[in-house]
Amino acid sequence: MKPKITHQPMSKIDILRNKSRLAEEGGGGARLEKQKLAGKMTARERIEFFLDENSFEEFDKFVVHRSTDFNLEEQKYFGDGVITGHGLVGGREVFIFAQDFTVFGGSLSETHAQKICKVMDFAMKTGAPVVGLNDSGGARIQEGVLSLGGYADIFLRNTLASGVVPQISCILGPCAGGAVYSPAITDFNVMVKDTSYMFITGPEVIKTVTHEEVTKEELGGAMTHNAKSGVAHFAADSDEHALRLTRELLSFCPSNNMEKPPFVPTNDIDSRIEEKLNSIIPELSTQPYDIRDIIHIITDENHFFEIQEHYAANIVIGFARLGGFSVGIVANQPAFLAGVLDIDASVKAARFVRFCDCFNIPLITFEDVPGFLPGVNQEHGGIIRHGAKLLYAFAEATVPKITVITRKAYGGAYCVMASKHIRTDINFAYPTAEIAVMGAEGAVGILYRKEISQAQGAEQFRKERVAEFEEKFANPYIAAERGFIDEVIEPSQTRPKLIRALRLLQNKRDNNPPKKHGNIPL
Ligand code: HXC
Repeated sequence: MKPKITHQPMSKIDILRNKSRLAEEGGGGARLEKQKLAGKMTARERIEFFLDENSFEEFDKFVVHRSTDFNLEEQKYFGDGVITGHGLVGGREVFIFAQDFTVFGGSLSETHAQKICKVMDFAMKTGAPVVGLNDSGGARIQEGVLSLGGYADIFLRNTLASGVVPQISCILGPCAGGAVYSPAITDFNVMVKDTSYMFITGPEVIKTVTHEEVTKEELGGAMTHNAKSGVAHFAADSDEHALRLTRELLSFCPSNNMEKPPFVPTNDIDSRIEEKLNSIIPELSTQPYDIRDIIHIITDENHFFEIQEHYAANIVIGFARLGGFSVGIVANQPAFLAGVLDIDASVKAARFVRFCDCFNIPLITFEDVPGFLPGVNQEHGGIIRHGAKLLYAFAEATVPKITVITRKAYGGAYCVMASKHIRTDINFAYPTAEIAVMGAEGAVGILYRKEISQAQGAEQFRKERVAEFEEKFANPYIAAERGFIDEVIEPSQTRPKLIRALRLLQNKRDNNPPKKHGNIPL
């Protein structure tokens, strides 16, 4: 008699656990090992590291693709190359997707896209930010147009979510082709040095088409996009660093456009007077100083979270807190190109101003600007159009707006940099402020051209006129007489004055006229 074989059936719980384990293995041990050897965390490690401990709730763990071409029906991985769900960051809900490079190179299939769209839809429904951890070979080649459609579905959602919930992209590996347009629409891009890159067409295609030879890193690495193109906002040293930056970035933002940013009580004293500020602006108005020194001195715990520090250094942008209030800071930087406004600086600041306005983050502007940068390149590059972006952004912003003119406020740049005339609520000036159409030298050259060219002792005459002009205009008092400046303050009082103004404005209400949307000069 044959012995009776009895199979011990797996319990239903075991089946679930087994499936879960398989899903968590991603593309398998060898590929996970390769990922680590490349200096990258795995997709699951990234999520664990990013979210508050044990807060991750996963969706769609068992989703698989439906493709049958290229023998794909025999290659199915639970999750289909992207891990999606939600968890907490600083105790607040955030939706997240993390592409898993170990499964089909993190490439985007129809179902992979559907998983991402699901969390984006949830984020919109519940009013929570979306963080995307990108690490992908792009469109799943075997799926063709289904994959392209999936991308477009994501782009649409990125666009609709823009200004409703904060969206942050971390580029933690490849991000190529049209895939770059999702991060491009999101509010901030964090890249990792040496392991991430973004480009529309890679080095090989470029070589064929334009005969230019360039490495991946030079073409689209973290520093390229942080320092040259302005596509990225942060260049992190590692995956961990990128994820920490993203957590901090979120801490300054509300969860959605209907909320205010979190108020973070501070031990720093609101009324802190800083005598050293009274001598921080150099005697000579052409002498540079670092505007970040002023920002660090006046912010809560001297902390300033700078954004795009490697791009257009003539303008400084970033977040800080003042008396616990989250604020967006925009500041001309006299230490670089004398703080002049050029194309890159205008675009950099304009996008940041719009982000702050979308998300109810008050704007503090520090102004020391000699004007817009003269030059054929700037004119032909469209400084008119690009400079107008910053003007438009400041003018349309309805959040609390406070300006401090530390030194120069010349010409069109005076109007653009959150002047009273474009609805800035409180305008302060230091006694060192110089508010005029242009600097004394330039003005005298134009006003007295004839006299200077004809007069005996022309240089002496010119000097006298310059001194006269400086005496008359190189101060804040004419603007103060008109009420364009609300108060000329001692620099030492900057912190208490700003905090008092923020308190005053915390319930500010202002609206733009009803319209479908404006037409910012793009
Ligand atoms: C399917 C892909 C894939 C893709 C990579 N893989 N990219 N599978 N579709 N797009 C798979 C590989 O077959 C491999 O599978 C695994 O992922 C890892 O890839 P490797 O090449 O071994 O890794 P690596 O050497 O690190 O190179 C990474 C890479 C390269 C540079 C990203 O894989 C690559 O060039 N992939 C193609 C990129 C691309 O041209 N994508 C389309 C871009 S256009 P195994 O089984 O061996 O592990 C696009 C349009 C989007 O995306 C349009 C939106 C509108």
